[in-house]
Amino acid sequence: MAFHGRKQKTRKGKCLDCDKAVGWERRHGVFHLVEKDGGALHIPCAKCGVSSVDCKGFHPDMPKVEMPEPIPEPDEVDVETPDEADLWSAVNAITRAVTGMGTRVGELESRPIPEPKAQTIEIRGLPVPPETPEDASDLAHEGMPELLQCLTRDLPVFVHGEAGTGKSHAGRAAAKAMGLEYRECIMGPSDPASKLLGLRMIDGTIVKTQVREAWEHGGVLLFDEVCASNPSVLTVLNNAIESGRLDFPDGPIMRHKDCRMMLADNTDGERVSAHYPTRRVLDPAFLSRFYRFEWVRDEALETAVATSRAAGDDEALATCLEFYRRVRAREWPVPVSVRSLYKSCVMLAHSDFSFEKVRRACYPSRIIEGMAS
Ligand SMILES: Nc1ncnc2c1ncn2[C@@H]1O[C@H](COP(=O)(O)OP(=O)(O)O)[C@@H](O)[C@H]1O
Ligand SMILES: [Mg+2]
Repeated sequence: MAFHGRKQKTRKGKCLDCDKAVGWERRHGVFHLVEKDGGALHIPCAKCGVSSVDCKGFHPDMPKVEMPEPIPEPDEVDVETPDEADLWSAVNAITRAVTGMGTRVGELESRPIPEPKAQTIEIRGLPVPPETPEDASDLAHEGMPELLQCLTRDLPVFVHGEAGTGKSHAGRAAAKAMGLEYRECIMGPSDPASKLLGLRMIDGTIVKTQVREAWEHGGVLLFDEVCASNPSVLTVLNNAIESGRLDFPDGPIMRHKDCRMMLADNTDGERVSAHYPTRRVLDPAFLSRFYRFEWVRDEALETAVATSRAAGDDEALATCLEFYRRVRAREWPVPVSVRSLYKSCVMLAHSDFSFEKVRRACYPSRIIEGMAS
């Protein structure tokens, strides 16, 4: 401001350029610099930039209070429309970028995959996988006639016996012999009842189980490892065996006339065994519903299973059988099964490993240590 003085109180002041006395006057409520005593005022007017001598400081359009410009509403904002040339150059730039990316992906895809650095393992004479006993057909077990008598007479049956004696296999073989589907439910200590009955999903879909398939459409239904099962799940079966009815999530279903029930376990449900510590005794009311018998160890069957796994390597077979028979001749605190025998046959016949190494991997360590002493 080119004016000295106390605006509101005095009418006197000095020009900052020439030091001449100047005055002011009030027009339209605003104070303006004016010429004093006829002298020139060199300071340009702060409003119009013209010497106060000429403009006399009078600006009739000057607002008393300068209000800020109103902010325009969004739809009133004047958006500058890009012209067509700009748009096309943007489109071209994007197209070039996308094409470049496609080329790069193609390059990466066609890049040769480096060879793995792992060492090559030579496998001695393993042209075909060893024939499994299932492929070799179902060898006759002495318990088979009794099992088939029960199942064909629609008697629920419970077979128990040492591990590896062929109980689970017997269920599959019986179904085959009777021309029925084979269904199985492996029981566990924390299984819920839905393991048997299935579920209704949140969208209404019904999840069906193997038990339901057999119950509804027929088949040999094996409940395996039954002495390790959740007791509350067995109570579901208790009533179902008697009444022939199971309550599935979408309603009750009566047992199909060709649904045959079989149970299997290592223990008989009446005694606990130190050999099978995860098993427990079953409720007598449950056990009373079954025809029960032992699935005994069949040495001829064991030899046949081992022979099929040795796949023609007679030397390996003889070594493995000889050791297995020696083990079997003694009482051990841990069970030994035909699985130890046939695993050792497979490895000895199809690898360069020594029998010493193979048997250590296939038998319980307590037996290996006991045999060495
Ligand atoms: N009758 C059979 N014919 C052919 N292989 C059998 C026979 N019984 C058992 N096996 C074989 O012996 C092994 C042990 O049989 P598995 O049924 O699993 O025994 P378990 O259920 O009693 O423990 C399996 O490899 C099985 O295929
Ligand atoms: Mg089994």
